[in-house]
Amino acid sequence: AKTRHLKWEVEYMHWFPDGREGVVIGINGQFPGPTIRARAGDTIHLNLTNKLHTEGVVIHWHGIRQIGTPWADGTASISQCAINPGETFVYRFKVDRAGTYFYHGHYGMQRSSGLYGSLIVDVAEGEKERLKYDGEFNILVSDWWHKGSREQEVDLSSKPMRWIGEPQTLLINGRGQFNCSLAAHFSNSSAAPCKLRGNEQYAPYILKVHPNKTYRLRIASSTALAALNLAIGHHKMVVVEADGNYVAPFSVENMDIYSGESYSVLFTTDQDPSSNYWISVSVRGREPHTPQALTLLNYHPTSPSRLPTSPPPVPPRWDDYGYSKAFSKNILTAPGSPPPPSKHDRRIVLLNTQNYIDGYTKWSINNVSLVLPTTPYLGSIKYGLANAFDAKSPPDRFPHDYDVMRPAANQNSTYGNGVYMLEFNSTVDVILQNANALKENVSEIHPWHLHGHDFWVIGYGEGKFSSEKDESRLNLKNPPYRNTAVIFPYGWTALRFVADNPGVWAFHCHIEPHLHLGMGVVFAEGAHLIDTIPNEALGCGLTGKMLMKNNNNN
Ligand code: C2O
Ligand code: CU
Repeated sequence: AKTRHLKWEVEYMHWFPDGREGVVIGINGQFPGPTIRARAGDTIHLNLTNKLHTEGVVIHWHGIRQIGTPWADGTASISQCAINPGETFVYRFKVDRAGTYFYHGHYGMQRSSGLYGSLIVDVAEGEKERLKYDGEFNILVSDWWHKGSREQEVDLSSKPMRWIGEPQTLLINGRGQFNCSLAAHFSNSSAAPCKLRGNEQYAPYILKVHPNKTYRLRIASSTALAALNLAIGHHKMVVVEADGNYVAPFSVENMDIYSGESYSVLFTTDQDPSSNYWISVSVRGREPHTPQALTLLNYHPTSPSRLPTSPPPVPPRWDDYGYSKAFSKNILTAPGSPPPPSKHDRRIVLLNTQNYIDGYTKWSINNVSLVLPTTPYLGSIKYGLANAFDAKSPPDRFPHDYDVMRPAANQNSTYGNGVYMLEFNSTVDVILQNANALKENVSEIHPWHLHGHDFWVIGYGEGKFSSEKDESRLNLKNPPYRNTAVIFPYGWTALRFVADNPGVWAFHCHIEPHLHLGMGVVFAEGAHLIDTIPNEALGCGLTGKMLMKNNNNN
């Protein structure tokens, strides 16, 4: 295993993600940030310098469990203090398992400003990849607004809330087209055909293939809001990996991908090579006001400027939730993977609601809307500092008579920053319970992401979870092992994980504005086993004061 040394500078820069000039957060002058490529067992040693001038920054390595290095998880107020402008912070962590991952900003809504990139881990040196393919591609999908994320933060935190609305453009590897369409010839829309030379920042990332080969396509979604559906025209895909874990292969025409998820699919180039084919990414789960993102699968030796002869793939209807559920439920772990523990030690039921606090619109979990403290939990918990956060644990359940099918009788909620303290090595079930939002007949999809662990997705159901009715229907045989799972409108999703990673871990909806409005909780376990935390991670709030005192006493 190797140590890979990286040096990054994070800064705002002008860019044309979709043909229109905007401001993105770039890394080393690139947008999206550079792809990290490593082998399982390698250590990443990354010097990050904040050149944003007037705001802090942190980077989260999404899907990397940070075993033994909880301080490197890159979550502001949870695992570390935000890195101040001009300062450098060293992230050091092991990538212990092959798979498709990504990284992104985890402070305020910086992810929406384009602070993200891919992280790909190949099998360990000397080991053989069990999937067979001749070549591979990687795409990171995201959504893009013409309004910057700082203004969006203000809009969301206003009274009344100003919703950010649907994205202007979907991006594939940071590239999309706003004012023109690659498929203008086929649509009846008024979009003009794109006139591209190919070297523009918004020219599509084209996948060049040879006929009769099998390719691995890695896909991760760092969208701020959009749930997506991906298709390759005229080609079937076989899903083989989800969130860094192999799954039992199954074949699809198109696939859903929610923010925070990653997949690998295999496809074979078995179509007429004198033609090119569309790859499309479309919005699901919200009424789409954003055009499909398109790029080309370009067969050798056909010219990449040759447009496909048929129109782009038509995605399933945006509100065909049955279709989405069927896809999610098809994902099962690869044969031979260890099953979850058969019993849980603790079960936490988390009700997801949209609420008001003093007239501000918020999201709450068991009626608590998360506001992060000024001292990072990891430090205050390790050093036992009092008053750094609410000492009282947030509730493990919600009132049993709560009607999840209707707007709440009392729509008011409260702020909080308490922690779910988990017993080390215990098996924890989390039941994510969806409900009606503020408006009648509205219930949204939320992709929940857990830091520091993978969980087994042991069941999905409709309405309110009931242990009498639903216990026997949980899948303890071959559930998928993942780090992100969705709850569907008016439904529940059951997860199981083992609290075996000493640290403090965020668990939240991966929709950036939802997290900003409080949709998350914090888990902590094994506090006494937390290893040395670099002082640089703790130089703020009460831990900052503590360190200063220690220095003066020396
Ligand atoms: Cu990718 Cu806490 O998120
Ligand atoms: Cu959400």
